[in-house]
Amino acid sequence: MESNKTFFLTLSGENINLSKFEILSLFKSKNTKFFNVKLIDRLLILSSKKNISNYIASRAALTHDISELSMVSSIEEKDIIESLKRIDLNKIVENRKSFAVRIQKIGLKEINSEYFERLIGKIILNKIEKKIKVDLLNPDVLFYGIFVKDKFVFGINNSQKIRSNLKLNSLKSRPFFHPSALNPILARVMVNLSQIKETDIFLDPFCGTGSILIEAFLVGCNRLIGIDINHKMINGAKRNLIKFGVKNMELLLSDSNHIPLRSISGVATDPPYGRSSSTYKKPLIHLIENFFLEISDLILKNRLITLALPSQIRIDELIDNFYFEIINEFNQYIHSSLTRRIYVIRKK
Ligand SMILES: C[S@@+](CC[C@H](N)C(=O)[O-])C[C@H]1O[C@@H](n2cnc3c(N)ncnc32)[C@H](O)[C@@H]1O
Repeated sequence: MESNKTFFLTLSGENINLSKFEILSLFKSKNTKFFNVKLIDRLLILSSKKNISNYIASRAALTHDISELSMVSSIEEKDIIESLKRIDLNKIVENRKSFAVRIQKIGLKEINSEYFERLIGKIILNKIEKKIKVDLLNPDVLFYGIFVKDKFVFGINNSQKIRSNLKLNSLKSRPFFHPSALNPILARVMVNLSQIKETDIFLDPFCGTGSILIEAFLVGCNRLIGIDINHKMINGAKRNLIKFGVKNMELLLSDSNHIPLRSISGVATDPPYGRSSSTYKKPLIHLIENFFLEISDLILKNRLITLALPSQIRIDELIDNFYFEIINEFNQYIHSSLTRRIYVIRKK
């Protein structure tokens, strides 16, 4: 049985609560229990029995890096040195031949990261009994430290540049573009919040150009269903999905008030707000109400719907009528007349 491990992750700064919830949702979708969750500024620390760093690195859109924790000290140099001496560096390094030290800081402009990289590098070289060399470009082990508030958090980096490595494609590079398309980062986050697994049947009932379906495919989901009332969108979404290599998809020209399916395990969707995409003369709230009425019998119990809406629209009471509950919500400022609210909703 694996022993508990503690991880620290640098979250991106746009919406720290959303970034944190994305990570917790990924742990849940992997059925991995986590505990001792702490947030220091935008550094998330949490423990779990399993190491799912690679999974996080392949999916998370709002996280920069993930590392395994070795020690936490104050930011005083003597405390850092003392704490480093207590770590079993030989066990960490094992038979690996090269290392590097990278030090980052969140805030704390006065700290000289390069000074600490050199200092810690020297300590490591002195403590390691086997032959090991410094390789700044391609080290076998990357020691990673972060100064945040009054703490120095240190460990072994598992994955860096997570967000830029995802290579979330620009919308304009797709064969079919429409101004209502959701940006790939938010589309990915919404997919992650819905906690879908690879074998799940995933639905976007207002699929437009297919941004959310593309992200669901890129995280490994192969049973994708998209619905849109506009045939141009259905044709365009098909072209976009084919470009990403999707083979198994069902794109249905239909009204989301009539979903011709039997069972759904997860939904993420961005309905029309009546601005860059039309509600076809229906008030948005009715569209949403009818959608919940329809999906209520199709979605499995305890499964999740991630829904983006303008913040003026409240749906608490409406969804309660159909045995759903809001488990979390996040505001995202778009411009002076639009704040988007992302809801994560559970079928009771
Ligand atoms: C905001 S857009 C979705 C954008 C999409 N997430 C993307 O990234 O391209 C909303 C979509 O809902 C579609 N729509 C509007 N009313 C609908 C209805 N009753 N049933 C299904 N689709 C509808 C519109 O045609 C539009 O493509």
